Amino acid sequence: MYLYITINENDMKFLDLVKERYSCRSYLEKSVEQEKLDYIMECVRLAPSAVNRQPWMFRLITKEEDKAKLQQCYHREWFQSAPMYIICSILHDEEWVRADGKHHGDIDIAIAVEHLCLAATEQGLATCWVCNFDAEKCRQLFTFAENEEPAVLIPIGYAADESKEKKRKSMNEISK
Ligand SMILES: Cc1cc2nc3c(=O)[nH]c(=O)nc-3n(C[C@H](O)[C@H](O)[C@H](O)COP(=O)(O)O)c2cc1C
Repeated sequence: MYLYITINENDMKFLDLVKERYSCRSYLEKSVEQEKLDYIMECVRLAPSAVNRQPWMFRLITKEEDKAKLQQCYHREWFQSAPMYIICSILHDEEWVRADGKHHGDIDIAIAVEHLCLAATEQGLATCWVCNFDAEKCRQLFTFAENEEPAVLIPIGYAADESKEKKRKSMNEISK
């Protein structure tokens, strides 16, 4: 099925933002302004979630000692260049579970984290989703509630690299 869409000026703004966001793997030393963080976190706060449970917690990691601890959880040189990080956790106590047993915390956190990344992009900042980290180590080094799962790490700052061409499936491959 082909989708014929008319792109008006407002649509383009969001499409431009979506195109602009990319996984940044090199950051400048410049720190992130508090007003920008406040704006981004407000966009996170307003994210939708199943049954409006909002089963999430976001830890803003800015202190040098905490940054050093988090860097032990993901051993990539580029990761260390970020001026700060956000640990995004699922609160399994609070997530909605469908009657057939399907948990929705993963879906909820993904929506909130993408709000974060797009809002950061809009503010001229760069981010990268990181899920391939040592979650067990993260649990040891930081204090989490028993049913809280650190699920995503987001380094955030000003980009020192540039976006690459987006490699994506074609529209025909993803829609019927
Ligand atoms: C759920 C999720 C987990 C990811 N985990 C990592 C990761 O651990 N390390 C990494 O470098 N990139 C990670 N990425 C980034 C993807 O590799 C990237 O989004 C994808 O290649 C598309 O590139 P783009 O973000 O530049 O458009 C992750 C992305 C998502 C959505």
